[in-house]
Amino acid sequence: MGVISVLDDNMINMIAAGEVIERPASVVKELVENSIDSGATRIDIAVEDGGRKLISVADDGFGMDAEDLGRAFEPHSTSKIRSSKDLRAITTLGFRGEALASIASIAAIKAISRTQDSPQGSSVEIDCGAKGEVKPCSCDYGTRIEVRDLFYKLPARRKFLRTVNTEMTHISEQFSRIALVNNNTYLTLSHNGHELHNLSGGQSLHERIAGLFSQEIAQSLMETQSEEKGLNIHAFLGRPEISRTNNKLQYVFLNGRFIRDKFISHAIREAYRTFLEPDRFGVVFLFIQMPYEDYDVNVHPTKIEVRFYNANLVHSQVLAVLREKLLASDLDVKGKIPIRQTGAAPSSQSKEEYEHTLNIRLAMDEFFKKHRPVETQNRLALRDIDTSSSLKEQSQRSGAVYEPLRQGQLQQPQPNFLQIHDSYIVVQTQEGFEILDQHALHERILYNQIKQRVTSQNLERQKLLLPESFEASATQQQALEENKEILEKFGLEVVPFGPKTIAVQSFPDLLAKANPVEFVRDLLDLLADKGKQFDAEALLDVVINMAACKGAIKAGQKLTAAEIEQLLADRHRNELASRCAHGRPTVLKFSLSDLEKQFKRT
Ligand SMILES: Nc1ncnc2c1ncn2[C@@H]1O[C@H](COP(=O)(O)OP(=O)(O)O)[C@@H](O)[C@H]1O
Ligand SMILES: [Mg+2]
Repeated sequence: MGVISVLDDNMINMIAAGEVIERPASVVKELVENSIDSGATRIDIAVEDGGRKLISVADDGFGMDAEDLGRAFEPHSTSKIRSSKDLRAITTLGFRGEALASIASIAAIKAISRTQDSPQGSSVEIDCGAKGEVKPCSCDYGTRIEVRDLFYKLPARRKFLRTVNTEMTHISEQFSRIALVNNNTYLTLSHNGHELHNLSGGQSLHERIAGLFSQEIAQSLMETQSEEKGLNIHAFLGRPEISRTNNKLQYVFLNGRFIRDKFISHAIREAYRTFLEPDRFGVVFLFIQMPYEDYDVNVHPTKIEVRFYNANLVHSQVLAVLREKLLASDLDVKGKIPIRQTGAAPSSQSKEEYEHTLNIRLAMDEFFKKHRPVETQNRLALRDIDTSSSLKEQSQRSGAVYEPLRQGQLQQPQPNFLQIHDSYIVVQTQEGFEILDQHALHERILYNQIKQRVTSQNLERQKLLLPESFEASATQQQALEENKEILEKFGLEVVPFGPKTIAVQSFPDLLAKANPVEFVRDLLDLLADKGKQFDAEALLDVVINMAACKGAIKAGQKLTAAEIEQLLADRHRNELASRCAHGRPTVLKFSLSDLEKQFKRT
């Protein structure tokens, strides 16, 4: 006797629910997407106990009449597509016709709905697939669906639900995704009677982002737009200083749908390369519009992934638009002067930022305490600049503005920079002053120089008088074997020297400040460690980063006036010198007007 039988509808729905409804947040997503598809201008979401007890979504959309309300919970029932032709260009968020049926198979539902032109509404209740009668009722136009006791007949799934907080985090995330791309819609979210979000309709994207995340994030965004090759890209890019340790603040929307896509993620990462450390993620809100025919959304049950017919085009366009914007932007970090009496971090600053500026403030305080009175200050600490070149030239080279001395006295030029704590350089500018981080700045400059020379295969090497050798591990030897090409590009001549020994014979000129053996040893470790994770290009970048870091002037190193001048001159010759290769700022700018405010002069 055969063992195959056809499953009944409710079983089919429960199986489908397994795919679409993972947790309360999935219910929120499906219901709200239906509301958006119904043309709603306002959607109110109320949740109890992280969604276990109740999820209610009410909208003012076009609603359903009694017949449709009865049908909406049947499997494969949809008003959004009719034939296979429609599948080729899906313009609505839903189309699979299985969300309501799935949800109704695993919870207790009450739905009421009224179309705008009907005087009366209808309601229906479904308890884990058992549907009651559709009854008339009086209600506002639009639709309200209440989902109670999710998974209550499926203890195994219910047990799988996490704490209220975790489930709420997922719900908030779904809410944000919808809210970001529907900024015309009035949206509210409440939990156990407390309002978490109240986003009025017709907000600008900046307002939405400030409402959902923070004012700081909204203010840091740089906007850019492009329309080329059938792709309309509208992007909001976070400045590097608000970067994150994960990609959660990278929101990508395709024709109004939140998606995750590995090509686009890669393009974002590439765009931020050199602006951020490899393990940091830029904050990005990306809105892409393209013809519906150019991709397939029918590849994933929750439609979070799509298949682009021309993924390369999408990748290259996104990369170009973002990269161009980042390169064209002034990414200087504006120094903030904390008010010390309060002791606490001002709320607009992150703790890290605050500590960073505070450290500099303290360093300067200490310096000025030591070197008072003012008359002696120059002699003690300011490094006199070379008087042989003209003052104008010097000020141009250093980028600082040289105040011409009154009555043309040129005998003792006022230096316009000073080194403090052997780590920072303070430079007077027209607007105020700047504080440069000597290590970060030099590292940035070296990064550019090395990169440029590596690319043009122009990295000069210097033969060491005596080869320097060291005992190498098997991994280091293997890394040497596997990465000959990279070493070569670096002007490094490193050879096996006996069974367990490696010798450095030539070393790049540019890295004169680094110790050859230490450098090569670390390089081989890095190659052994990262070689498998990165493609050749990214690996080279990691190596250049490391080389720049090792070759750069250290913090705590006293510099001569000539060295400082060189640094300042190089800084102005280098693209992107306002940020070190790890994405940290190299310079903080302070304006006179801020100083005046702080000193209450204005
Ligand atoms: N909030 C709503 N307002 C109006 N119609 C709705 C609403 N929610 C669901 N519907 C109707 O119920 C149908 C089934 O919904 P659903 O199961 O989510 O499938 P899909 O969205 O894929 O069509 C929809 O196609 C739509 O016609
Ligand atoms: Mg739907």
